[in-house]
Amino acid sequence: MTATKLVNPLTMRDQAALNDPYPLLSALRSNEPVWWCPDAKAWIVSTYAEAQYILRSADFEKQIQRWKHMPNPKLTMFFPPFKALRETSSSWLLNLNPPDHTRVRALVGRTFAPSTINLLKPEIEKTAAELIHIAREKGQFDLVSDFAFPLPLAIIALIMGIPVSDRNLLKKWSNMLVSIAGGNRTLGSIWTSGNAIIELRKYLTPLIEERRKDLRDDMLSMLITAEEEEHNAKTRLNTAELLANLILFLVAGQETTVNLISNGVLCLMRNPAQLSLLLEKPDSIASATNEILRYESPAQAAPRLANKDVVVAGKTIKEGDMVWLLLGSANRDSKQFENAEVFDITRTQNRHISFSEGIHRCIGASLAEAECEIALNSLFTNFPNLKLVEQQVDFKFPFALRGPKQLIVRA
Ligand code: HEM
Repeated sequence: MTATKLVNPLTMRDQAALNDPYPLLSALRSNEPVWWCPDAKAWIVSTYAEAQYILRSADFEKQIQRWKHMPNPKLTMFFPPFKALRETSSSWLLNLNPPDHTRVRALVGRTFAPSTINLLKPEIEKTAAELIHIAREKGQFDLVSDFAFPLPLAIIALIMGIPVSDRNLLKKWSNMLVSIAGGNRTLGSIWTSGNAIIELRKYLTPLIEERRKDLRDDMLSMLITAEEEEHNAKTRLNTAELLANLILFLVAGQETTVNLISNGVLCLMRNPAQLSLLLEKPDSIASATNEILRYESPAQAAPRLANKDVVVAGKTIKEGDMVWLLLGSANRDSKQFENAEVFDITRTQNRHISFSEGIHRCIGASLAEAECEIALNSLFTNFPNLKLVEQQVDFKFPFALRGPKQLIVRA
């Protein structure tokens, strides 16, 4: 047996490795669970206990204030797309540290409470039914672009208050923004996403102003009016924060949910006995969704920066060092999960970290789960004999956002 060479999974482009990164992740866990990766100039942490420890620890924080990304901060001042990305992403909840994070999370968090998400379920069901209707007409379709992509996009549009007639604009911006997610930053991708942010800010500003004057019973109005008592004074999101975080929902919630739904369909089709179990017991959809999240985690990596010297698994991570937590690898750690490499929708001990852990745990987790549950239930109830037309499935680059490029299926 040849030993798997340790390479940086975040930048790997080899299609076979992207399709099946699990031998590499297993080799990382066995040989170098906390690995200084010269190529990434960062630590790569692949085991569950260590990843969970770092995510929960106050010794690690978000890195954006120290701005270790390209381009150089001075450059950002001269080029509007760089400046727009820098300004907007600096206000993203995802990139804040306490105490700013605590305030914004309290303001944004309640909009995503499970009780609010329950109110969205009829809309998710309606959108899924419309997409199924179109798919039925086609007979053969691409599950990714015809079903998994438009479903979360419609719901994010609803949250942002974007009318149905403008959904194509949102699709365009989502495609422009996806290039900065997942640690895949090049000058070109930063330029493209910066331009999407400029356009989105221009589009959303009047929409927010209109909604301020005409508050409704919807999530955008909830975000506009969200108030927090702090030191006896009420705080609210200012317009720049609101704009930034609406854009973050698109960056953080679109591609991840597309991948969750697509990965789910693929896992079930590749494991027909598990699909039969689900069809026999549709109530097990929540447990199935949890297992899909563990087994093929849509977000494979999360970054942190050490704010002091810390020893983890015998390695000294120095203050200012970057760390990447491999969430999907942690989810396959046999020290945490029995038969970790087996896809089992009846698994009861399933505390995966696909939505991260600690203060940055995904705010959209309940929404993503609801969308996946409704999507898979409607799909397989309507098409119990769904077949993969092409068995060869290629996964997208970068590795950090894990999902198939396309899934050609026949109803
Ligand atoms: C399957 C779908 C999703 C996955 C796998 C996922 C994954 C994650 C992960 C791993 C983080 C934390 C990153 C870190 O610790 O550095 C996160 C944070 C976040 N996610 Fe999600 N996400 C999903 C869907 C969504 C949706 C639908 C939304 C909203 C529409 C959303 C909004 C956010 C926000 C705002 C944060 C930042 C939270 C904070 O920093 O306090 N996500 N997500």
